[in-house]
Amino acid sequence: MSEHPYFFTWSAQSKAAPFEIVGGRGARFDVRSGSGETHPWLDLASLSYQANLGHGCQRVVDAIKRQADELLLTVPSGAFPAKEALARTLLAHAPPGFTKVFFTLGGAEAVENALKMARLATGRHKLVSRYRSYHGASMGALSLSGDHRRPPLEPGLVGVTHVLDCYESRLPGGSRVVEGGGSAEALARTLDLEGPRSVAAIFLEPVPGANGVLIPPDGYWPAVREAADRHGTLLVADCVLDGFGRLGSWYGFERLGGAPDLITVSKGITGGYAPLGAVLVHERVAKVFEDQVLWAGLTFYGHPLGVAAGLEALRVYEDEGLIERAASLGEEFAGWVAALQDRHPTQVPRTRALGLLAGLEIEGDDARFARLGRALEARRVYTHLNPRIRTLVLSPPLVIGAEELRDGLAQVEAALVESA
Ligand SMILES: Cc1ncc(COP(=O)(O)O)c(C=O)c1O
Repeated sequence: MSEHPYFFTWSAQSKAAPFEIVGGRGARFDVRSGSGETHPWLDLASLSYQANLGHGCQRVVDAIKRQADELLLTVPSGAFPAKEALARTLLAHAPPGFTKVFFTLGGAEAVENALKMARLATGRHKLVSRYRSYHGASMGALSLSGDHRRPPLEPGLVGVTHVLDCYESRLPGGSRVVEGGGSAEALARTLDLEGPRSVAAIFLEPVPGANGVLIPPDGYWPAVREAADRHGTLLVADCVLDGFGRLGSWYGFERLGGAPDLITVSKGITGGYAPLGAVLVHERVAKVFEDQVLWAGLTFYGHPLGVAAGLEALRVYEDEGLIERAASLGEEFAGWVAALQDRHPTQVPRTRALGLLAGLEIEGDDARFARLGRALEARRVYTHLNPRIRTLVLSPPLVIGAEELRDGLAQVEAALVESA
């Protein structure tokens, strides 16, 4: 048996590698090694994509402390000013017509509750999502997920159909290619074939992140919106990963055109400082629940700690202009990623970048990926390296300095060269 008295996630316990983070500031966090020394690491991942505000954000820490002094215990129907203000702020940044928020504790719960609302509001049970997607580990969200984490737990929900993906990659030299085998037309055809007007909702990450930063080509998202409308099917944008500035916009779909009916968020909503998620709901769905019961609830619905952290995090995004900063620094970042690819066209045959999120497909077998992992670790650079999809995903905190990011990318390049 492994020595720790708790489970590590997504891992055989005997193979789990604990990682002790003891603090941090900005884009760097400190890790205590086995020998007890601490070393700074450069965070090019935002931990698990939640640390958009970087490390040691004192404003959010102070807001949590104030809330702890003021009020911690309430009931799901409890009303308090920060809960009202957070909901209003989330809605203010959503497209016109979004009128209600449902609070959760994380991303999977947001997806679960969006799924329930879609079924209750339409009276239909069928759902459509994509293969290269991740929507959470609870059984409903996992049934929608298309990646390798779903099959070990099947059978999942009845009525979920997966479709192929559709994304555009940059090739060395700058030309572009649409890949994934899917298209908006194929998705529309799936809606027809499932039975006209029989699918409750389509769940899509605007840009699937953990599955390789799969940015759809122009026109994909609006065409999906149109197909959904033809069938009276709801469109759910799962912005758990790509919300709050990750793509240089408040919510991930904004740069793709076409507004959804429901938006799921978590991770960056508090910058990772407290557990919180939410479903943002357009009035055309919300109004159904004026007279019909919304069969959904949680003991910790709108818990004061999460709410206080979320409200202050949103104020930090606003006051420091972090969303706009992610968009402008993102332009430079995309240029640096493209230049790196052009210097190593064989090793990095495809890249995709938008805002402060980039995916670099890397040539090589498992052994080469293991070497790359070690080379990054030796440089204390934290990234999402996924040998299963042969991709390195970078998603730095939005507060990272431009030079710091450029240097970080230089470290990634050095690790690539060393491990080739
Ligand atoms: C797009 C997306 N949706 C949902 C989830 C699930 O969120 P959580 O891990 O908070 O349940 C994730 C987590 O990575 C995600 O990336």
